[in-house]
Amino acid sequence: MSKENTLKILTYPHPILKKKSIPIAQIDENIKSLVKQMATTMYENKGIGLAAPQIGQNIRLITVDISGPEKRENLLTLINPQIIEKSGETESEEGCLSVIGYRAKVKRAAKVKVVAQNLEADRIEIEADDLLAICLQHEIDHLEGILFIDRISRLKRNLYERRLKKWLKQSKK
Ligand code: CO
Repeated sequence: MSKENTLKILTYPHPILKKKSIPIAQIDENIKSLVKQMATTMYENKGIGLAAPQIGQNIRLITVDISGPEKRENLLTLINPQIIEKSGETESEEGCLSVIGYRAKVKRAAKVKVVAQNLEADRIEIEADDLLAICLQHEIDHLEGILFIDRISRLKRNLYERRLKKWLKQSKK
């Protein structure tokens, strides 16, 4: 996989990550080539999900592959994804390519139903549980400008903010 196809991932506290993304009206060649680059970027960074705002585009597009960067068997490209049903509750540790050096437990719905468009602009419906459900909620959150650290306790959040400040200071030296 060539380096030219990997995109730079923005990290917290970049303002683009806080913005609500806009729907994609037309799935043109630009979108298709962006999807390829996003998938490559996700795999190369050992992620299982990536949302367009993370690579600097505030548009409603996510890529997900819970089979992981080794297998690369279940790539899902979802355009304008929307959660239409949620049920149950689960809690698991999450991380994010845009939140460096931190993982925390996050409460999510255990099952979700998502509608979206695929690259052919067909309407698709996905019923997900377990890791896929968590991953979809995490990525769709990105489209609303929400990071997993927005869903943890104030105490843990403050701890992370302090640690991050220290790192940023050190990296400037
Ligand atoms: Co993320």
